Amino acid sequence: MLRATRHAVLGFAAFFLTFCAAVAQQPSDLRTPLPPPTPHINGPEVYGARPGHPFLYRVPCTGTRPIVFHARHLPASLQLDPKTGIISGTAPEKRGTYTVALDATNSLGRDRRTLRIVIGDTIGLTPQMGWNDWYSYYSRITDEDVRTAAEAMISSGMADFGYQFVDIDDCWARKPNAHDPDLAGELRDPQGNILPNARFPDMAALTAFIHSLGLKTGIYSSPGPLTCAGFEGSYGNEARDAKQFASWGFDLLKYDWCSYTRVAKDKSIEELEKPYIKMGGLLKDQPRDVVLNMCQYGMGDVWNWGREVGGNSWRTTGDLGLQAGSALPGFYNIAFANATHSQDAGPGGWNDPDYILIGTVGNARDQNAPGKPTSLTHEEQYSYMSMWSLMAAPLIFSGQMDHLDAFTLNVLCNSEVIDVDQDPLGKQASIVRKTDEEFVLRKPLEDGSVALGLFNLTTSPRSISADWSQLGLQGSQKIRDVWRQRDLGVFAQNYSPVVPPHGVIMVRITAAHPAH
Ligand code: GAL
Repeated sequence: MLRATRHAVLGFAAFFLTFCAAVAQQPSDLRTPLPPPTPHINGPEVYGARPGHPFLYRVPCTGTRPIVFHARHLPASLQLDPKTGIISGTAPEKRGTYTVALDATNSLGRDRRTLRIVIGDTIGLTPQMGWNDWYSYYSRITDEDVRTAAEAMISSGMADFGYQFVDIDDCWARKPNAHDPDLAGELRDPQGNILPNARFPDMAALTAFIHSLGLKTGIYSSPGPLTCAGFEGSYGNEARDAKQFASWGFDLLKYDWCSYTRVAKDKSIEELEKPYIKMGGLLKDQPRDVVLNMCQYGMGDVWNWGREVGGNSWRTTGDLGLQAGSALPGFYNIAFANATHSQDAGPGGWNDPDYILIGTVGNARDQNAPGKPTSLTHEEQYSYMSMWSLMAAPLIFSGQMDHLDAFTLNVLCNSEVIDVDQDPLGKQASIVRKTDEEFVLRKPLEDGSVALGLFNLTTSPRSISADWSQLGLQGSQKIRDVWRQRDLGVFAQNYSPVVPPHGVIMVRITAAHPAH
C-alpha cells in the first residue's frame, strides 16, 4: 500500500505540473481547465458487483495530496483505506443498493459524492474505463510494460478521473511453432492449464501488483484454437481457462473470435452466439467478477444479442486502427456506424467502437514500427473523445502510457465529459442529424438534462444549429460547455454555435425552469 500512496502523491504532483506546463505552452488549444487543488471526487455514481465476491474500487479524486477519504454507510464487509481511497473487501451477500456517502478532505477543502453500490447479477453498470496495450505493444507486450502502464495510470492522474482497467491484449500466451524462444515452449501444462510466455513470469504477482494500486486488469483469449496473432486460444479448454483467468486475479476477459471461424459450422446467429454463451456462463460461475468484452467485429448484429449471451460490451466494427480514413480520419466512420445502435446499449452491456488512439501510438499496419504522435488534429481528438462519451462507449486509451503528454491528458481527463460517458442512466446518444457536413448526437442523462454534441465534418468553421423542437425540449434552457466547464447562459429556443473544422461543441442542457 505504501507504494500506492507514494504513487498517488507523486501522481497528482506530476499531473498538476504537466497540466500547468501545457497551459503555458498552448493556451488557446487546451479546453479542459486545470482541476482545482481542493478535492474533487470523480468516477461513476453507480457501481455493480456480485454478492460475496472480492470487491475493489479506488475512489477517483483530484486535488492536492494528502487527501483523507471517508465513507458513511459502507457495507460492513468493505473497508476504505483513508489514505489511498481504495475500497476493498468482500461484496455483501445481501443483494440490493447500498448508498455510500464518500467524503474527501485536504487542507484546502472538501468534496462529497454519493456512490450507489448495486449488489446483484449485473456488473459493468457504466462503460469500462482504462487502457489496453494492443496499439502500443502488439506482440512485444511484457509484464514490465503492463506494470509501467499501471503505475503511469496513477502517476499521470488518469486514475483520479476514473480510468481503472489495465488490460493485456493478445500475445501473452505461447505461440505454436514460434521461432522466438520467449514465445516458444509447451502451450499448456500436463493438466491442460494454459501457460504464459516467458515475458509473463508470474501472472498472479502481476494482477496482485495492479490490485495493490486499486486498479483492475484484463486478459485476452479467443474461442478458437489460435488467437488472431497465432497464439494459443481457448478452444476445447474453455472451462479450464475461465478458471485460470479468475484464479490469476483478472477482472476482465476480451474474447476475440479470430480462428473460431474454423470451428463454427456457418455464420448463423446460433453459431455466432455459441462460444460466447459458453464463456459467458463460465465466467459467471467464477468466484470473482470478470467483465466479458466480446470482440467479433459486429457479426450477426451482435448488439441485438451480446447482452443475452453474457457480454458486458461488444465490438460493433472491425479494428479502428485498420480503418481507412477518407476526407475524415477513420474513427469517424467507426463512430457513424456505432452510433446507429444506440437502442441496444445500457447498464451492463455497451456498444464498443474500439479504443481511443491518440497520444503516442503504434501503427496497426506496421506493428514493428515505433510509436508516433497521432496525426489527428487537436480538434479531431476532442471530437473523438466527445463521440465516445456521448455514445456511452468504453473509454479505453491504447496509446503509450510511458509517453503521455499534456495535450493527450487534457483530452482524456475532463471530469464533465467523462460524467456524460459514465452517466448512471446508461443511455447511448441517438443521432439527431447526420449529413456530409454535420453530425449531431443527443444523450439523455439521469438528472433530466441532455448532453449534446455538435460535430463539424467540414474543413471550414460552420454554424451548427440545434432547435429545442428537434431535441424534444421545451422552454428556456441553461447551457453549459462541458469541455470548458463554463456556463454559457439561458437560451430560449435553440443553440447555434460556430464549430471549428472537424471540431465539436459539447454541452449539457438543463431546463431553466424545471416543471414541478
Ligand atoms: C483483433 C482485435 C484487436 C486485437 C487483435 C489482437 O482481432 O480486433 O482488437 O485484439 O485482434 O491480435
